[in-house]
Amino acid sequence: MGSLIMASTSVISGFLCLILLASNCHGILLQNVGVPSYAVQGKEAVLTCDYDLEGQALYSVKWYKNGLEFFRFLPGSAQKMTVYARPGFFVVQEQSDAFQVTLKDLTMKSTGRYRCEVSTEAPSFATVSNYGDMVVVVLPDSGPSIQGGQPRYELGDDVDVNCTSKASKPAADIFWFINGEPADEALTQVYQIQNTSRDLHTSTVGLKFKVAPEHFSERGDMKLKCTATIASIYWKSNEKSAENIKQKRDFQSLYEAPPDSSGLSSTLGFNHAVSKWGSSSSLPVKILTFGRQTIIVMFIALLFQ
Ligand SMILES: *[C@@H]1O[C@H](CO)[C@@H](O)[C@H](O)[C@H]1NC(C)=O
Ligand SMILES: *[C@@H]1O[C@H](CO)[C@@H](O)[C@H](O)[C@H]1NC(C)=O
Repeated sequence: MGSLIMASTSVISGFLCLILLASNCHGILLQNVGVPSYAVQGKEAVLTCDYDLEGQALYSVKWYKNGLEFFRFLPGSAQKMTVYARPGFFVVQEQSDAFQVTLKDLTMKSTGRYRCEVSTEAPSFATVSNYGDMVVVVLPDSGPSIQGGQPRYELGDDVDVNCTSKASKPAADIFWFINGEPADEALTQVYQIQNTSRDLHTSTVGLKFKVAPEHFSERGDMKLKCTATIASIYWKSNEKSAENIKQKRDFQSLYEAPPDSSGLSSTLGFNHAVSKWGSSSSLPVKILTFGRQTIIVMFIALLFQ
């Protein structure tokens, strides 16, 4: 009964094929060939081939790299799986079948175009194929490093630091952030990429600026972060934190400053003072946001305790 329904279904779909799809009726739907755009040297990659034979029998699934066949799966033959050795990878047979191949020990030579080709048995002998491109990248052994810099700065000091990401392929893209905000391009300097003997690349980007009030956070510190990225496959960051030498002096000058002093600097001084004071006493920081008068009153109250 079941086979009768299946047989009549295939007759009907064959018939529909004829009248609806005319010349373009393969009888195989190749739904997706999944090839990762990037893979990592020394690691594995799983390539997938998703198809629907629409009731027909599978004759073969073949995989090609740059036009050279390296894998063949024939369910109807005594030896279902055949692997051809090619430079750049090994096929993990236990993790390969009619729908996927797993490659291991990837090298730069594994970069290329991977094509999956699916064929059905007689009588249709239909064949369809599709491909994806994979690039093998070499990741750095360690995250980016920051050279130079000091633990403390005051306004007007020169910050001069480098961020380096070593030996990768392709070279890493480096970005600088000051207190979490992307650094202005005018403050950064991209140095020439250095090449190692193994044909890998080392990137260095410098960050140089004169310390201005806006470079300190509300809490009086300066966080310099750099990130190194490679394609969409690698992202690592490093951060160094410096503090404002003059924090304490700002705190004092706040109360000595004339009432009509510049709005910006007094606001900054205020923020630094809050941070300094808040951290040296047990008062919750929230109370300190009421305004200058409140704080002065509380300050005086503390003095008289
Ligand atoms: C940053 O790197 C450049 C290029 O290698 C070098 O000339 C410069 O002295 C370095 N600066 C610091 C602060 O390390
Ligand atoms: C390193 O190689 C790249 C191309 O692969 C080249 O553009 C660059 O100038 C080379 N750097 C040095 C320092 O030779």
